[in-house]
Amino acid sequence: SKTPIHVAVTGAAGQIGYALLPRIASGQMFGPDQPVVLRLIEIPHEKAMAALKGVAMELEDCAFPLLRDMVLTSDVNEGFRDANWALLVGAKPRGPGMERGDLIKENGPIFVGQGRAINDHASADVRVAVVGNPCNTNALIAMHAAKDVPNERFTAMTRLDQNRAEAQLAQKAGVAVSEVHNMLIWGNHSATQVPDFKNATIGGKPADEVITDHEWLKNDFFSTVQKRGAAIIQARGLSSAMSAANGLIDHVHDLVNATADGSWRSVCVPSDGSYGVTEGLISSFPVQSDGQGGYKIVQGLELGDFLSGKLKASVAELEEERETVADLLS
Ligand code: NAI
Repeated sequence: SKTPIHVAVTGAAGQIGYALLPRIASGQMFGPDQPVVLRLIEIPHEKAMAALKGVAMELEDCAFPLLRDMVLTSDVNEGFRDANWALLVGAKPRGPGMERGDLIKENGPIFVGQGRAINDHASADVRVAVVGNPCNTNALIAMHAAKDVPNERFTAMTRLDQNRAEAQLAQKAGVAVSEVHNMLIWGNHSATQVPDFKNATIGGKPADEVITDHEWLKNDFFSTVQKRGAAIIQARGLSSAMSAANGLIDHVHDLVNATADGSWRSVCVPSDGSYGVTEGLISSFPVQSDGQGGYKIVQGLELGDFLSGKLKASVAELEEERETVADLLS
């Protein structure tokens, strides 16, 4: 049978971890015939490690045939050892009264340490997906810290935003969500993100031809997608976890497998300057995977003035975030 894939997951005892791990172990990320070893990383606190132990016990109790082994650790060197995929989910949440800039400064150093550990201990083919917020800038920090790992192996997640946007378009058009294709998020995973209603299709037609209420597209649709995370916190008292884990399953699954011709997925990857996005920033783009470990940024999409203006603002925010952590990038 196949050699197991080693999947390292940080923040494994958190909410997203709880929704994510059974889906990895049951084959939904890497396929139904691909065994996995889970390398579960938590902070070196008694409570966190005890909770992690409990999660691992439950995973045992699921008796997943594909789950070959588990490593539970608070040592990142051990955690990322031989990892083929590093899923950086753990991060400190934003506390009351904390500004976005403070959050970036608090979390930044963690991603330096994790980037170095990935560099020194992960498998030569390691690929990284960052979920912990601010995910674009955390991915940038880890990428800079992992000097020997090719930059294009670092990604951050806007797939949850893409999925949210698909659901909103389907609802508005009164069709099944499976009718919506090529929904795309540009820019930062933040309130400035840009859900692209021009290049998405509904039943094979441009979304903005099917949905003729363009004021809705530019206003309600935009703000619903941008503020969905806050709306979930408001409703549930906790941030999105089931849907975030689902987004990460989709993100990795679709990077491992080839994307059909003429299709793309939203993935935050290092910019090569495409679409005027400052080179080197990790920003969300239309990404097409070759299914062999490589991908390309799909070229030639038209954004129009409205979406271009929004993308510019989101890129400006990414530049600001990069400025805030400049000392961690040298
Ligand atoms: P949580 O607070 O339930 O769990 C986070 C876990 O990470 C905790 O168990 C904590 O002990 C652990 N942790 C913190 N620092 C760590 C470190 N340095 N190394 C290893 N583990 C560490 O949070 P939840 O709900 O699971 O969310 C995790 C992150 O995902 C948050 O930053 C959240 O903002 C982000 N998120 C991102 C989304 C996206 O679309 N990109 C969507 C939803 C959440």
